[in-house]
Amino acid sequence: MGEPRKAAAKAMEKATEAAIASAAEHLLAGRLVAFPTETVYGLGADATNSKAVAQIFAAKGRPRFNPLIVHVLDAAAADAYVAFTPLARRLAGAFWPGPLTLVLDKRDTSPLSDLVTGGLASVAVRSPDHPIARALLRATGRPLAAPSANRSGRISPTQAAHVAAEFGDEVAMILDGGPTAHGLESTILDARGEAPVLLRPGAVTVETIEAALGVKVARGSIDAERPSAPGQLMSHYAPRAGVRLEAREVRPGEALLAFGPAPLPTEGPVFNLSPAGDLAEAAANLFAALRALDASGAEAIAVMPIPAEGLGEAINDRLQRAAAPRSAGAS
Ligand code: TXA
Ligand code: MG
Repeated sequence: MGEPRKAAAKAMEKATEAAIASAAEHLLAGRLVAFPTETVYGLGADATNSKAVAQIFAAKGRPRFNPLIVHVLDAAAADAYVAFTPLARRLAGAFWPGPLTLVLDKRDTSPLSDLVTGGLASVAVRSPDHPIARALLRATGRPLAAPSANRSGRISPTQAAHVAAEFGDEVAMILDGGPTAHGLESTILDARGEAPVLLRPGAVTVETIEAALGVKVARGSIDAERPSAPGQLMSHYAPRAGVRLEAREVRPGEALLAFGPAPLPTEGPVFNLSPAGDLAEAAANLFAALRALDASGAEAIAVMPIPAEGLGEAINDRLQRAAAPRSAGAS
């Protein structure tokens, strides 16, 4: 691991104007650039360049059938790649730019690489609300395919150093924009029909979407999406240590992932996601906390119960995947 780490450290750069300009050149030349979004760091490539997109799958060790999110500046840009439904227009109007991803039918005329969609007829598009991501989109004038910048199945990165620890010279550059604000990935909605269907809970809560649109968000279609979005269902976000949910006590050898003002008593390592019991703070801390407790060398991580409402839905979704059996072939 010594060599790749060194190469990655060299590739990590503060996201100055000059660094963003050279990152854009790398992207236009078909190379990979990791960059911050308001959710997590993404591993970006020109979505119209199949060779570049292929490098994303290779670097992440991601199965080719697991499609990527395409980042765009705005709905007008997305219009060249996907067919907006009336529902999608309303959702984009209410939440873009921001951490909401829309799955829509791909246009026949779309110049996107087929690798991006993993052979599906749909594309997941999102307009990020982060100045560095937006500057890259402007400077390249290209749609950017960018999954979370972690090895497939591992914990998503919320800091540039997380990316540097996992990727070596596969990436031309890692733009450092500090810790990400939300700390959880975007919410993914299938917006092809009349009512939105939740494919992945995320930084925008279901309650917020329902309040903004006055429509009910359907759940439960995730099963139907299983073949097309496998990364969402298997073991994912996995630290090396085991993960035990709904912990009421800390066992010997365990680290504690705590939540709220009354953490369980323990002599071992502790990370409290939010002593105040604030779910937004907990979401922002979650992935860094899992990494830190994993690095403590604990055999397992005991996780205190976290309320299920609001952002708690996405937090619990990530924790359940982190705790899922790591079956062979899991992405
Ligand atoms: O916040 C985010 O969404 C971050 C940042 C970097 O934008 N990106 C991200 O990408 O989380 P990724 O690749 O880690 O997760 C994208 C998920 C995958 O589980 C994939 O299966 C699903 O989106 N997906 C992509 N295209 C899809 C499609 N056409 N239909 C259904 N699911 C799709
Ligand atoms: Mg991911």
